Amino acid sequence: MNVGTLEEFIDEDHCIVSSTMGPEYYVPIMSFVDKDQLEPNSSVLLNHRGMSIVGIMQDDVDPLLNVMKVEKAPLESYADIGGLETQIQEIKEAVELPLTHPEVYEDMGIKPPKGVILYGEPGTGKTLLAKAVANETSATFLRVVGSELIQKYLGDGPKLVRELFKTAQEHSPAIIFIDEIDAIGTKRYDSNSGGEKEVQRTMLELLNQLDGFDTHAEVKVIMATNKIETLDPALIRPGRIDRKIEFPVPDLKTKHKIFQIHTSRMSLNDDVKVVDLIQTKDDLSGADIKAMCTEAGLIALRERRMKVTKEDFDKAKEKVLYLKKGDIP
Ligand SMILES: Nc1ncnc2c1ncn2[C@@H]1O[C@H](COP(=O)(O)OP(=O)(O)OP(=O)(O)O)[C@@H](O)[C@H]1O
Ligand SMILES: [Mg+2]
Repeated sequence: MNVGTLEEFIDEDHCIVSSTMGPEYYVPIMSFVDKDQLEPNSSVLLNHRGMSIVGIMQDDVDPLLNVMKVEKAPLESYADIGGLETQIQEIKEAVELPLTHPEVYEDMGIKPPKGVILYGEPGTGKTLLAKAVANETSATFLRVVGSELIQKYLGDGPKLVRELFKTAQEHSPAIIFIDEIDAIGTKRYDSNSGGEKEVQRTMLELLNQLDGFDTHAEVKVIMATNKIETLDPALIRPGRIDRKIEFPVPDLKTKHKIFQIHTSRMSLNDDVKVVDLIQTKDDLSGADIKAMCTEAGLIALRERRMKVTKEDFDKAKEKVLYLKKGDIP
């Protein structure tokens, strides 16, 4: 990719662009580029070989906004969650109630928790529950992913963390959701590589912010990880994120419920029986069950059928289990 500056429009789909190297080119604008946002002097991304405009560089937009996805109202609700009753109860007490009824804690004379950490195997519903809480409280939902924070904003991690808490306070009541916290919150060990240092500084800033913000501010932090054992204990020590909620691999009853949720809007053939499909020995997470339902639907669609049969589910299950065993990402 090259970066150039748009000099002048020639017609609807063509313009003159000067490249950073000097020369000017007459180039087509690809159809998927939003032309309304193009204007003379815009920085544009140029395809290296064909020299056509393939994107716009929004240099005046704060890059922070790309990581912090302000999601005002996620669509997921508690009703979309199969099982996890105690987890829902715990997050209600730790996050929802302090946001919706802060006075309850005051009357009781205790400080509400600053937040919670959700941990457990992949695909067990952690992200799902975090979204559902945000939805039920109609709080501003700020979501960052630990690994993105490190990869995309190397050098800016600490600043991003500060901005995150500031934005949350400005838009309170708010929930800060840090997914894959292990990417920044791993145990500190001696390392002098620049990347490691950066991760550590980001983590220190996070600890600072956690200590700094007032429990009465209507801001709650939810973190999620599937590697809690690698986390720096400082992060989850009392006074910081001291509420830990474990997400177990679903048991048989829960698996049935999850199956029912994901098939509720599918048209099933009479021969489809959950009991036959999902058994105790199957090592299926919530995400696997969802994938299995989608796959079964796709198989039926391929054969132009609107009803999904037991055979479709059997094939779908085989595929999901196979992919899982092969550890193919
Ligand atoms: N208990 C559940 N009830 C209903 N659906 C579920 C449940 N658990 C998982 N799912 C489905 O699986 C999908 C993936 O789950 P989710 O993203 O919440 O997993 P996660 O625990 O965050 O995994 P990871 O650790 O990989 O981030 C969800 O979008 C949802 O559709
Ligand atoms: Mg997740």
